[in-house]
Amino acid sequence: MDIRALQPQDDRARFRSGDDDLDRFLHAFAAQNQFRHHIGVTYVAVHDESILGYATVSPGHVEIDGLPTSQRKKLPRYPLPILRLARLAVDASAQGQGIGTALLRFVLMLTMRMTDDYGCVGVLVDAKPAAIEFYARHGFVAVGAVAGQSDARPAPTPMFLGIKAIVDAGGGR
Ligand SMILES: CC(C)(COP(=O)(O)OP(=O)(O)OC[C@H]1O[C@@H](n2cnc3c(N)ncnc32)[C@H](O)[C@@H]1OP(=O)(O)O)[C@@H](O)C(=O)NCCC(=O)NCCS
Repeated sequence: MDIRALQPQDDRARFRSGDDDLDRFLHAFAAQNQFRHHIGVTYVAVHDESILGYATVSPGHVEIDGLPTSQRKKLPRYPLPILRLARLAVDASAQGQGIGTALLRFVLMLTMRMTDDYGCVGVLVDAKPAAIEFYARHGFVAVGAVAGQSDARPAPTPMFLGIKAIVDAGGGR
């Protein structure tokens, strides 16, 4: 398996993660966002030309109140650069085989690169309720209270992993 940037000729239409929104994004929007609008880059985990999973990132910034309280110490009160993990999904046929973890590690490596090249305090994700535990296992901390999960369509929970924790964990390697 290889992880690399999406290419225009990649066959995106067969990807099915079980989450319609995440599937629709890869089918209809990932390529135009990357190649026409330049508002994010999608990295794909591929094997034999098949997309097994993807992670979409874009640079952003967050106000200090958008970080977990434990991470705010000594930071200035103007907007702070972050890498946003906008979407992460693995094809249903390949879930539970470490591909989501490999994509997340790749994103941590990108975060390190952004820190070194442009400045970046960490990676931020809007975690869907079913994925909160996945991110927590990788050290992400919820920003504010975890949203209730009883609504029909619960809100995602912003979760953050700071650059120090990424470096301490080996920088995604
Ligand atoms: C969540 C997702 C990206 C994880 O990818 P994956 O390749 O299945 O995960 P991995 O195989 O790397 O899992 C690593 C570990 O996390 C666990 N895990 C996987 N998904 C999990 C979840 N949703 N909640 C809790 N734990 C999870 C696995 O059991 C595994 O545990 P182990 O190391 O003890 O065996 C994938 O299941 C997926 O695409 N789900 C549907 C879409 C989605 O929810 N995306 C996240 C949106 S924010």
